[in-house]
Amino acid sequence: MENLSEFELWKQGAEAKVYLGDFFGQPVIVKERFPKKYRHPALDQNLTQDRFKSEARMLVRCKAAGIKTPTVYYADYISCRLCLEYFPGSATAKDFINEKLLMNDERSRDLLNKLMALIGSNVARLHDNDIIHGDLTTSNLILREPHDDLDLYFIDFGLGYVSKSPEDKSVDLYVLERAFLSTHPGTEELFALLLRTYLDKSTRDGKEIAAKFYEVRLRGRKRVMIG
Ligand SMILES: Nc1ncnc2c1ncn2[C@@H]1O[C@H](COP(=O)(O)OP(=O)(O)OP(=O)(O)O)[C@@H](O)[C@H]1O
Ligand SMILES: [Mg+2]
Repeated sequence: MENLSEFELWKQGAEAKVYLGDFFGQPVIVKERFPKKYRHPALDQNLTQDRFKSEARMLVRCKAAGIKTPTVYYADYISCRLCLEYFPGSATAKDFINEKLLMNDERSRDLLNKLMALIGSNVARLHDNDIIHGDLTTSNLILREPHDDLDLYFIDFGLGYVSKSPEDKSVDLYVLERAFLSTHPGTEELFALLLRTYLDKSTRDGKEIAAKFYEVRLRGRKRVMIG
């Protein structure tokens, strides 16, 4: 993993470059986090390493908890490179949802309902295992090919951490709600289905998490109204 010269740069985000290649014959991505230029160099190195460590740890913890995530093949702390199982032809939940919303036929609506229930039950499982994702958006959920089989994987755990706190879990849900409704406007009913399934499947502190969630949501709305 020292030398990425045989890897092809695939995506370049704000904090990470994603390369495609192979690792002992397996298709892999290498996610390399790099320091942001405008941050203080020392602080920056720490932040980059913290996110790298969180991501590696959370991916492994998810695996142990039976939550679908790409397998970690290799993690290099010095270069902040993470070598992960790659799913060729996968789609982000974001693109999948937008496509099905546009089609708006019975089959698409049925698939969307199923996907909402699936996301809800999987987030409940994350939280039952005290895993806070930290950046739940529909770009950080991917569906393996064929997409309509709804084989859902969680990715992008750089802001993830371990916590038992119902409040932390409720904020994780609130981040998802905000991201969901701004990425897919007018989908309140779909998100409500996700939330119902979450509360239904959640086996620990469901009531407390729900109460906190409505509280956090109300605070969020007040903040918006006050400006
Ligand atoms: N294992 C994978 N298999 C297939 N595609 C993937 C995989 N991991 C990531 N991707 C694709 O690459 C995109 C970026 O990956 P990821 O979300 O991990 O990084 P990022 O968003 O750049 O990170 P950050 O949020 O820190 O900037 C995803 O939205 C997805 O489309
Ligand atoms: Mg991402």
